Amino acid sequence: MNRLLITHCKLVTPLGRNALKGREMGNLLTVEDAFIYIEDGIIKVTGRMADVEALGLAGVCDALDAKGRVVLPGFVDSHTHLVFGGYRPDEFSWRLKGDTYMSIMERGGGIQSTVNATRVESAEQLLEKAKWFADRMIEMGVTTVEVKSGYGLDTATELKMLEVANALKQDYADRIGVAVTFLGAHAVPKEYAGRTAQYCDLIINEMLPLVKDKAEYFDIFTEKNVFEIEDSRRLLKAARDAGMKLKLHADEIVQLGGAELAAEMGAVSADHLLHVSDQGVRRMAEAGVVATLLPLTAFALKEPYAPARKMIDADGAVALATDLNPGSCFSGSIPLTIALACIYMQMSIEEVISALTINGAAAIGRADSIGSIESGKEANLVLLEFDNINMLPYYIGMNCVNTTIYKGHVIKK
Ligand code: NIG
Ligand code: FE
Repeated sequence: MNRLLITHCKLVTPLGRNALKGREMGNLLTVEDAFIYIEDGIIKVTGRMADVEALGLAGVCDALDAKGRVVLPGFVDSHTHLVFGGYRPDEFSWRLKGDTYMSIMERGGGIQSTVNATRVESAEQLLEKAKWFADRMIEMGVTTVEVKSGYGLDTATELKMLEVANALKQDYADRIGVAVTFLGAHAVPKEYAGRTAQYCDLIINEMLPLVKDKAEYFDIFTEKNVFEIEDSRRLLKAARDAGMKLKLHADEIVQLGGAELAAEMGAVSADHLLHVSDQGVRRMAEAGVVATLLPLTAFALKEPYAPARKMIDADGAVALATDLNPGSCFSGSIPLTIALACIYMQMSIEEVISALTINGAAAIGRADSIGSIESGKEANLVLLEFDNINMLPYYIGMNCVNTTIYKGHVIKK
């Protein structure tokens, strides 16, 4: 049996096995001078050091002295596009000169240029790169990551991307948890320009039967001039009928009613929501759809941040994620995500911690097994360098993680 005893930590965690909503998001349990006892990757007991001797563990298991540092649940990055070919630095420089994300996309750049690159790269090349990004995430305390396809937009390349995501999950099974999402509805590929309905037919009739067992989630870029509400509804219904759980890129560039559609369809999450309507905020809260907010994307696109405060005050559940991708947001920075959420989105650090742990877990349907430090959950933990959670937003954009622990094993130290 594999045993680990973490001693003298400041344990800080949300509690529960579901997404935390509204005010609950700000309630963290804090235990000073605590211990965490782990067996075979699962948290068995937590408590105060004063009570640890009674357990009779001294000498029978490995011990890790946290020296008063904060221990948090491992971060869950519940929205990334970390499998992709090529890079788009030139587009980034055009945007700095005033070009917009959508105008570049409409000229055949944007997502389509990554599609061109992804189609020609081998699965091995894509996997090597995905691992490089996953390693950077682990250094920042990420213990679970969601990975999307969506740069194939033809059946063979979408399958190749899912193969890469599943290979990452398998090869890194002892380092990081992976949730796989099919995003064949990321854009209308150039072969189908002006024929969106036919591309939707291809997704429904050809792709869905092949991908439904290779991905847990179906995601879609619901956006003006991409997949509008009617196309989105048709695709989401077909995916739901095929047994997939649903996610949406919603109200990212313009207000289209993506949040309302997410609520109507019973999606697990709706993501981005920079331009969500008040009605959308309410409907999502009522329907229990997790609002996954991606402040790095708003920052990179110079767009207004999503109204996190309004969502929490409406008793909604908010998650935070990075959106790491080669276009709208080429960053996977957890530290900067934390700083932006606290500085620009009026979220408290307690709410941010809930958003990056238990609510991120809920956004990928895993809140019953990860996302908090409680007995019976996976021992996915982050030891900070400091003894105070307020250091996280204060040390702006800098990595505060000392050690990442995945299923009871030290991954980064
Ligand atoms: O989450 N908006 C659509 N998808 C991504 C961007 C993908 C890209 O630019 O390559 C997003 O922002
Ligand atoms: Fe995205």
